[in-house]
Amino acid sequence: MEKQPPMQDQLTQIEKRALQDINEARDLKSLQEAEVKHLGRKSALTALMSKLKDLSPDEKKKIGPLSNQIKTSITNKFEEKRAQLETIEIEAKLKTEFFDITIPGSAREIGRVHPLAQLQHEVENIFHGMGFTVADGPEIESEYYNFEGLNIPADHPARDMQDTFFVDAKHEAKHGRLVLRTQTSPVQIRTMEKYGAPLRIIVPGRVFRNEATDASHETTFHQVEGLLIDTHISLANLKGIMTEFLTELFKKEVSVRFRPGYFPFVEPGVELDFSCLICTGKGCSVCKRTGWVEFMGAGMVHPNVLKAGGIDSQKYRGWAFGFGLERLAMMRYGIDDIRLFHSGDLRFIKQF
Ligand code: DAH
Repeated sequence: MEKQPPMQDQLTQIEKRALQDINEARDLKSLQEAEVKHLGRKSALTALMSKLKDLSPDEKKKIGPLSNQIKTSITNKFEEKRAQLETIEIEAKLKTEFFDITIPGSAREIGRVHPLAQLQHEVENIFHGMGFTVADGPEIESEYYNFEGLNIPADHPARDMQDTFFVDAKHEAKHGRLVLRTQTSPVQIRTMEKYGAPLRIIVPGRVFRNEATDASHETTFHQVEGLLIDTHISLANLKGIMTEFLTELFKKEVSVRFRPGYFPFVEPGVELDFSCLICTGKGCSVCKRTGWVEFMGAGMVHPNVLKAGGIDSQKYRGWAFGFGLERLAMMRYGIDDIRLFHSGDLRFIKQF
C-alpha cells in the first residue's frame, strides 16, 4: 500500500484544494458542486475525520482541533463566496430583466384559530388550573352510552328532549344501535369505566341533534361536560368551581345561582345561571330583565350512573355539569346567530 503523507500535510492539501475551487467558482451552481466535493459525505475531509478515532491520544490532541479548524475555515469561505455570487447574480438579473417595483405585493394570508377553538382552549386552561384533566370520547356513540348508561331507558320520556340522528350501520353495535352523540355526557361513563374514582375531568366535544336550525339552534354544536367524583362532594363545591371558572373567564366578578332542574342522570338536578354581565344584575334585554343568564345543567351524579361506570355509590359521589360552548361564545362576543360558527364565512371568522 502506498504510504500516506502525515495527516497534518493531508489537511493542508485539502484546504488548499478547497480554496482553489472556491476561487474558481464562477456561479452558484459550481460553488454548490465544490461544496459537496470538499465538505460532503464522500469528501477527503470527512474520510480523514472519520479516522481520527484510530490515532494515538497525542496525535488526536493535535490533529483533532486542527481538522475542526480547517473545516470551519473552509465552511466560512464557502459562505463568503456564496454571498458574493448571490449579489452578482441578482445585480445581473436586475440589469437584464425588467422589474416593476410599483406593482403591489401579494399579501400572504395568515390562518387563525377558530373562535370556538380559542374559547375551548381557554376553558381547558382554567379547569386545568383547578386540577381537571381533559377527556374525550367518540362522536359516533352507542345508544347504551348515550342513553341507557345515563339512566335514560328506551321508553323514558327524557329521550324526547333530544332529537337523535341514528347511524344507518349494517352491524348492531355491541351496546345497541349507533347514534351521533346528542351530548358529551356519555364520556362520563366511559371515563369512569376506564379510570375509576376519584375523578376530575372536563370533556369538550362536538354533539349532534336533529333540529330545525335557527338563530339559536344548530344540528352540530359543542358542549363542555364536567365530572367530579370523590368521597366528600356536594353541590357547594360545584358552586365554588363555577364561580371561579366564570370569574376567571370573564375577568369580572361573576356570581352564580341554582334553580331546580331535571336531568335523568343527576339527582338532585339543577340549572345554573350566572349574573348578567351586561347589566350586572339590574336587568336588561340580554337577561330578559331577570339579571340572570341561563348557563348550564348540573346535579349530583345519579347512583345508577355511578353503577354503570363501575363506581361504588356507597363510597363515592360526585357532581356533573354540561354547558354549550357556542352559547358561551355568543354571550362573550355578542354574537346573535349560532349558525355563523359553522358558516365558513371568513368575514365572520377573521374578526377573532
Ligand atoms: N347533557 C345535558 C344536555 O345535553 C347537559 C347536562 C345536564 C349535563 C346536567 C350534565 C348534567 O352532566 O349533570 O342537555
